[in-house]
Amino acid sequence: MPYKVLVIPGDGIGPEVVDAALEVVYAAARRFGVDLEIKTAEAGDVALRKYGAAMPPETLKLADAADVIFKGPIGESAYDVTSLIRMRYTLYANIRPVKNLPGVPAIREIDCVFVRENVEDVYVGAEYKVGDVAIALKVITGQGTRRVARVARRYAEMRRRKVTVVHKANVLRVVDGFFRDVALEELRGLEVDQMYVDAAAMELVRNPARFDVVLTTNQYGDILTDLAAQVAGGIGLAPSGNIGDSKAMFEPVHGAAFDIAGKGIANPIATILSAAMMFEWIGRTDAAMAIRRAVEKGIENNVKTPDIGGKSTTSEVGRYIATIIEKL
Ligand code: IPM
Ligand code: MN
Repeated sequence: MPYKVLVIPGDGIGPEVVDAALEVVYAAARRFGVDLEIKTAEAGDVALRKYGAAMPPETLKLADAADVIFKGPIGESAYDVTSLIRMRYTLYANIRPVKNLPGVPAIREIDCVFVRENVEDVYVGAEYKVGDVAIALKVITGQGTRRVARVARRYAEMRRRKVTVVHKANVLRVVDGFFRDVALEELRGLEVDQMYVDAAAMELVRNPARFDVVLTTNQYGDILTDLAAQVAGGIGLAPSGNIGDSKAMFEPVHGAAFDIAGKGIANPIATILSAAMMFEWIGRTDAAMAIRRAVEKGIENNVKTPDIGGKSTTSEVGRYIATIIEKL
């Protein structure tokens, strides 16, 4: 039975980086004999203009039928696509590994994995405006916290067995206090510490090597992972996986970058490394490792986009990495 993959190219630089990444996906699937059935569907700002819906019914149907979704960045309608997919399929853990790549200038050495709760917090979309007052609800549940903490535990057990729980319980005493308490309970037996989110932002720049696994709520995770990606050398390199119990979605951490769209200069590595995470998730570590090795080789051989000091185009980087995998 083939794995059913739904590809959503997205907006801005999305189609370019996804095309480049798909070359790599096809090369890895061929080389390692992974049976993928790949379909493509529209979603995002362009879909909204064309069909009046950022997530058209046809795309939703294909997404429902897929085992895994491989998605580019979405523009202004991201909440209606990205968050919808996360919530609809209960992809409750957002895995964002942050690690330097050899040969890429970075602010500091960093090697950690963010496990970001992915369906609760202010992302539940409960916002109200009453006269001169605007209100957003921050929702944290015990069940939601326990299940994402269990994912953090699994990652810690594969790594240095250390988890930092990041929150702001000195202000949000009830809500963040609950997240902290439930998380700490679930992580018993590991080396666990906790940090306020403001201090965590500082520490991620000052001494990022102290972090192994970082477990945090949805919005803090959103903000801290952009920060951490930049510490590691740039947001163009940062992959992610949105994981549920039976389905998953893989996408770059970065956005649609309309300012550089269509120029062929967008870095496809974040999307390519997201493809590696996808292979890992379907149990094909061999293909995942080959992709990562090929990405490193490409950088080593100076086939890289301008954001990391190269002169190659988006598609040249994709093709080069695909070729390396074919020759492995
Ligand atoms: C991300 C993005 C999304 C988020 C937006 C586009 C809805 O910033 O995946 O980090 O806030 O989660
Ligand atoms: Mn973000």
